[in-house]
Amino acid sequence: MFVRKKIFDAEIKSNAAVAENIYRLEILAQELAETARAGQFVQVKLADEFTLRRPLGIASARNGVVKIFYRVVGHGTEVLSAKKSGDTLNILGALGNGFDTDISGRILLVGGGMGLAPLLSVAEKAGAVDVLIGGRNRGEVDFWIQEFKPEVGKVFITTDDGSRGSLGFVTTLLPEVLEYEDYAAIYTCGPEIMMRGVAKIAGENDIPCRVSLERRMACGLGVCLSCSIDTASGRRKICKDGPVFDAREVFTKAGEKVG
Ligand SMILES: Cc1cc2nc3c(=O)[nH]c(=O)nc-3n(C[C@H](O)[C@H](O)[C@H](O)COP(=O)(O)OP(=O)(O)OC[C@H]3O[C@@H](n4cnc5c(N)ncnc54)[C@H](O)[C@@H]3O)c2cc1C
Ligand code: FES
Repeated sequence: MFVRKKIFDAEIKSNAAVAENIYRLEILAQELAETARAGQFVQVKLADEFTLRRPLGIASARNGVVKIFYRVVGHGTEVLSAKKSGDTLNILGALGNGFDTDISGRILLVGGGMGLAPLLSVAEKAGAVDVLIGGRNRGEVDFWIQEFKPEVGKVFITTDDGSRGSLGFVTTLLPEVLEYEDYAAIYTCGPEIMMRGVAKIAGENDIPCRVSLERRMACGLGVCLSCSIDTASGRRKICKDGPVFDAREVFTKAGEKVG
C-alpha cells in the first residue's frame, strides 16, 4: 500500500551545542511526536541552495517535541547549526522501519558516537533497557549519559582514550557485559565496523541482533535507489526496507558485509 509521507514546517524550540561540533535540536512537531516509531528518521530541508534533504535520526519524540542530535560534518549541518529558536525547518517524515520496542525480555542498546541518537528513542519507548555507550572521549559521551540515565537501567561506558568509563571500544567491554547479564536482544547503531563487531559477538552468544545502517541518501522514500545494499535476501533500500535490519541479513557470522 502507498503511504503518503508528511512534509511540514516545524518551529525550532532550541538548537544548542552539547559537545564540540555536536548539537541537540528540538522541534515542535505534535503529529510527528505522536506517530514516530523508535529508530525512524526524518529528511530535513536546510535551505533552498541544497537540492537534497539531509537524513537525521529521531532521538526522542515526546510531548509534541522531537529531539535530534547531529554532528557538524559538512555544509548542510553547518547551516543547521546556525538556526535559531523560532526559525522553521521543512521536515519530511517519519521515514524508515524503526526498531521493535515491543519484545519480551531486556534489550541491550550498543551505540557509538552519533549512532546513540536512534537508540535513545528505543530507550524512551521500550520497557526494560540497558545501554553500552561508546565514544572517543568524555566530552563525546557525557551528554549521552545524561540523556540515557533517566530512560534505562544500567549504563556501561567506554571511551577510546579512557577518559570516561573503560578504556577501549564497545566491542572490548561487550563480552564482559554479556557474561553477567541476560538479554533478549541487542540493538546497535554507530560506525559500521563497530556494528559488525557487535553483531559477531551477539551471534557467538546466540542473542538476536538488529543493526541500524546509514548511507548517503537522496529521496529517502525508496525511489532513487541511491541507498541500495546487498543483503542475504537480495537488494534492499536502507531508507525504506531499513534503516534497521536483522544483523544476519547484512553481516556474515564472521562479521563481514553480505554481498
Ligand atoms: C538514516 C540516517 C540517519 C542519520 N541520523 C543522523 C543523526 O541522527 N545524527 C547525525 O549527526 N547524523 C546522522 N546521519 C548522517 C547525516 O545525514 C549526515 O552527517 C549529513 O547528511 C551530512 O550533511 P552535510 O551537508 O553536513 O555534509 P556533506 O557536505 O553532505 O558531507 C560531509 C561529509 O560527511 C559524509 N556523509 C554525509 N552523509 C553521510 C552518510 N549518510 N553516511 C556517511 N557519511 C556521510 C560525506 O561523505 C562527507 O565526507 C544519518 C544518516 C542516515 C542515512
Ligand atoms: S534514498 Fe532514494 S531509494 Fe533510498
